[in-house]
Amino acid sequence: MKVQTPVPSSQIRAVFLVGFMGAGKTSVGRALSRQLGWSFEDLDDRVQTREGRSIETIFQESGEAGFRQAEHKALRELISELSDSPQIVALGGGAFVQPDNAVLLGDLGIKTVFLDGSVEELFRRCQEQNLERPLRKSAENFRTLYEKRRPHYLKASLRIETQGKSVDAIAQEVATALGLGA
Ligand code: S3P
Repeated sequence: MKVQTPVPSSQIRAVFLVGFMGAGKTSVGRALSRQLGWSFEDLDDRVQTREGRSIETIFQESGEAGFRQAEHKALRELISELSDSPQIVALGGGAFVQPDNAVLLGDLGIKTVFLDGSVEELFRRCQEQNLERPLRKSAENFRTLYEKRRPHYLKASLRIETQGKSVDAIAQEVATALGLGA
């Protein structure tokens, strides 16, 4: 069996995108990875692969608590696989809000970027995308959850306003703000 030597945290070059549903974490993450030539991973994809179930099914069968457990395990695994080859990661909308996850990233000194936007814009984007999102319910419920979570997102290393900007422009702004000079 191949034993992986842990990479010293100072050598990890990874950027984790955080924010609410509809913030553009996945699309900006892909654009940023193209611009920088870094690899990209979406944590939700890893959760689904590990579980062999869609997010919707995990919520239906195991509830939100079951999903959060699966998400935490997937995040630990992803972090343990970080190498000195640079990577962009898009977290699901609730991942950074869970204290254990935020502590894990903070302890390693990993850069986190909060993609911000108005709740109206985020709701509109989610409606347009029409993806299965178990926690996207009524507009009122969406706003309540957003307001509860926003203080957590604000603990990220950096906040980028996404309102009215293209995906490529946001990715460029993230790269410049992090001094990655795309
Ligand atoms: C969630 C957001 C989703 C996904 C799951 C839970 C949340 O990811 O992780 O449905 O708690 O906000 P996106 O933010 O990519 O939609």
